[in-house]
Amino acid sequence: MGGGVYHALQRNGGLISSRLGVKFRVSQVAVRDVSKSRPVDIPRARLTQDWRAVVENPETDIVCELMGGVTTAKAVITTALKLGKPVVTANKALLSACGEELFELAKQRGTSLYYEASVAGGIPIIKVLREALIGNRITRLYGIVNGTCNYILTRMKLEGADFSAVLADAQRLGFAEAEPSLDVDGHDGAQKIGILASLAHGFWVPPAQIHTEGIREVTPLDIQFAEQLGYTIKLIAMVKKFDAGRSGKTTRIQVSITPTLVPSSHVLANVNHVFNAVLVRGDVVGDTLYYGRGAGQDATASSVLSDIADAALDLQCHTEQRVPAFVPHENDGEVVKIDDTISRYYLRLSVVDKPGTLARIAALLGQSKIGISSVIQPEGHEGESVPLILMIHDASFAAMSKALTKIGRLPVIKGTPVLFRVENFE
Ligand code: HSE
Repeated sequence: MGGGVYHALQRNGGLISSRLGVKFRVSQVAVRDVSKSRPVDIPRARLTQDWRAVVENPETDIVCELMGGVTTAKAVITTALKLGKPVVTANKALLSACGEELFELAKQRGTSLYYEASVAGGIPIIKVLREALIGNRITRLYGIVNGTCNYILTRMKLEGADFSAVLADAQRLGFAEAEPSLDVDGHDGAQKIGILASLAHGFWVPPAQIHTEGIREVTPLDIQFAEQLGYTIKLIAMVKKFDAGRSGKTTRIQVSITPTLVPSSHVLANVNHVFNAVLVRGDVVGDTLYYGRGAGQDATASSVLSDIADAALDLQCHTEQRVPAFVPHENDGEVVKIDDTISRYYLRLSVVDKPGTLARIAALLGQSKIGISSVIQPEGHEGESVPLILMIHDASFAAMSKALTKIGRLPVIKGTPVLFRVENFE
């Protein structure tokens, strides 16, 4: 990522300078191994393995942390902030784990911490929430924020491709994380939606409170059935604001990332391949949509350049805290437990095809006051077990999970039931 930013600065640093009236110079670049060959030609004299010397160098005005990981990256950022130097980072994992503490440190030291590239690559969604929509209460935020999962789901739908073959392609193309579980099990997206939820609602949302499901359970069969029903399966990260409710808390939000059936006519269903999109609904503005490359060196570099420009302007105008990085302003905010959230569902069961099966399943759902909106048992699936797809009316996750446990115990059920949410963006 650092190489991409260096390259972009070489290419457009002059342009930014002429737009802002500020000159930039990459004075030093700290790397893990100076002898390693690099795709971007950085003069050897500028490379060092001593990050502390770079950060503490009095000639360094702005520190960009683009190394990833948590431990050293945190040391780099805290050292810079303690010296009152603005920091630009793309490190979603670090912010997700320690954001609150780092933002507080920036505030105490009268400097700024910029993090546009940490969420949705080249889409300026942090700037949107921090600045453009400052006059709105955010009632809904839906995002496709993991390029790898979106790429896999897109190719599975368009080509009927196999999950693992497409994942290998995503790794080869360089946008999947080195550890693919971070992407496909939803953790990368959870880190990103946690940052957006915190920013949108003014209290820090730790990763442990985010209901996280990945895409491993999505099969080509589900993609086909969803399509027949008029839906497309996407990994949707969402933040929903609820009424204050009985708890009296002023802000109650759902924060989750799950495979979700989205109406195929909806704009998010048509965000394909590595592209990301974020739909933000504000109480004043209504729906707004942001779309772009969510991963990859150049998209990320574009966001880092924007942050460098902001940090430079702050220094020039002595406005280091003009737009604070994150201000906790909602003391009574609460993340609603996933059991208490309500949704429509797609349920795929593998059942023994004999009379009475559907009636027994429907009875168990009925006992839990869960309504079925449609049923498909496709032709052409003869054998020991056949797929049975049920679309379920609004139900709480707690009721749905309880009913599923009972359904799973029926002797006519084979394999593990598959449950995905259905979202109509109301
Ligand atoms: N692995 C991430 C993705 C990269 O696929 O979206 C950008 O954070």
